[in-house]
Amino acid sequence: MKIIEVHNYDQLSKKACEIIEEQVMVKHDSVLGLATGSTPLGTYKELIAGYKEGRTDYRHVSTLNLDEYVGLGPQDPQSYRHFMNEQFFRSINVNLENTYIPNGKAVDLQDECERYEKVIEQVGPPDLQLLGIGENGHIGFNEPGTPFQSETHVVQLADSTRQANARFFQSMEDVPTMAVTMGIRSILKSKKIVLLASGERKAQAIDQLINGYLDEQFPASSLKEHSDITLIVDEDAYAEVK
Ligand code: F6R
Repeated sequence: MKIIEVHNYDQLSKKACEIIEEQVMVKHDSVLGLATGSTPLGTYKELIAGYKEGRTDYRHVSTLNLDEYVGLGPQDPQSYRHFMNEQFFRSINVNLENTYIPNGKAVDLQDECERYEKVIEQVGPPDLQLLGIGENGHIGFNEPGTPFQSETHVVQLADSTRQANARFFQSMEDVPTMAVTMGIRSILKSKKIVLLASGERKAQAIDQLINGYLDEQFPASSLKEHSDITLIVDEDAYAEVK
């Protein structure tokens, strides 16, 4: 595991942007695996700035997002499709038809999981997967206890995850209870993985990721089995690593 420690969130975002831009410059039709949440917001801002300055061209790029809430569609401001369109896609020249996110409104969720896993196979696997990490070690919405062999599946969100994400909703009751997520095995298919962690809330998880053992109760530990992982952490997130 390669660890890049930076001072703060701003530097973390710039570093992540640099790695993604390099990927897109080297391979114009790169497949990028993308994440939502607060952590990658700065990275998307930097990438947009890079695009506007003419450093990057996303015309031939495809993207595969990790997850989507069950019950929310593109029009719902809290859906991850809406998030991606607003925070990134609408400001670059990616073809929206080449951006993939599970359909949280699918009538048959099991079918949707199988369909999305096929999309990952046909479009992907990602050349580079961007990840955040939950305080409980989740990656995507793979909560503690998720088998490492899991592919795209429906999950019941942990109360702690719903609470952590409640800030995006009007009330706790509005936070969906289920999501469709790429499984751990699906995520590990990516050729390269870049995990971002910022702030003291992530410090324990980062210590466990670096110093802990492979453990299905700590989903991010599965990343230890991947051969090309880069961890970008700021000082606060790295503070508990001995
Ligand atoms: C988002 C995702 C989640 C987040 C994680 C951290 O698509 O899959 O695993 O990466 O919950 O979220 P933030 O960045 O908001 O702390």
